[in-house]
Amino acid sequence: MEITDKEYKSIVDYVKSNYGINLNGKKTLITGRLQNYLVKNGYSSYSEFLDKVKSSKTGEEANKMLNYLTTNHTYFLREQLHFNYLRDVVLPFLLKKESATKSIKLWSCACSTGEEPYTIVMTMEDFFKSQPGKWDTRILATDISTQVLGKAREGIYLNEQLEVLPDRWRKMYFQRHSDVESRVKDEIRNKVIYKQFNLMSANYSFKSKFNVIFIRNVMIYFDEQTKRQIVDKMYNCLDIGGYLFTGMAEVVDKTATKLKYIQPSIYQKIN
Ligand SMILES: C[S@@+](CC[C@H](N)C(=O)[O-])C[C@H]1O[C@@H](n2cnc3c(N)ncnc32)[C@H](O)[C@@H]1O
Repeated sequence: MEITDKEYKSIVDYVKSNYGINLNGKKTLITGRLQNYLVKNGYSSYSEFLDKVKSSKTGEEANKMLNYLTTNHTYFLREQLHFNYLRDVVLPFLLKKESATKSIKLWSCACSTGEEPYTIVMTMEDFFKSQPGKWDTRILATDISTQVLGKAREGIYLNEQLEVLPDRWRKMYFQRHSDVESRVKDEIRNKVIYKQFNLMSANYSFKSKFNVIFIRNVMIYFDEQTKRQIVDKMYNCLDIGGYLFTGMAEVVDKTATKLKYIQPSIYQKIN
């Protein structure tokens, strides 16, 4: 199925204004990922599909489009420095700061298939198990794609994906699922609350402020202005003393944020 220049531009504009994702110059990606679905589902053109995306009240076609067009690459312990920093600096700081509430509020806001939130939970398990009292270490994990959220909730991974993890974690936090797969144990899975959330949403109202936000390897798909707006919203969602982790290749304009720069890809809200 051919895509006209007008259809291509309409899809790029729609995805950019609704989800922040910049697909300019990515015609082959768009057609490569959508074509089969359109043909199988009886669409005669890309514009017919986009009309359905816009008019569908359930959001089902929009979800389908997002499932195909988002790039969800991730892996366990990705950018390990962040998990070390969480363990060595952030959690000891929060142990004191939140000693009265014994509750850590953490948000992984482009969580993809779950490797990032599960790595965070395992890091927290390790840290808090030697601490007296029972800490609430449940975390919120969100993504725009319902497909990746489904996979994350299931928590089933190929054994080869777990090879980067310490042996101890593999033994303690995973169980056999098949000859080639393992499943995250319920005690870890139940600590992650998965929800669909669009970072372009105007409504960032959460019950309480977060101590830590992971927004990693998603802003690379956004333009400068969108990035700045989202970092501002993150600032508002953070508690005083709260930390923001971005992807290591993602640069936040230091002059355009009230967050304090700590080191590349790590920021803190100090006032
Ligand atoms: C490359 S993955 C990053 C996963 C993980 N944070 C990591 O660093 O490994 C980017 C994720 O961002 C999600 N995403 C893209 N646009 C989004 C938006 N507007 N709101 C929420 N999530 C979005 C995609 O669905 C995808 O799962």
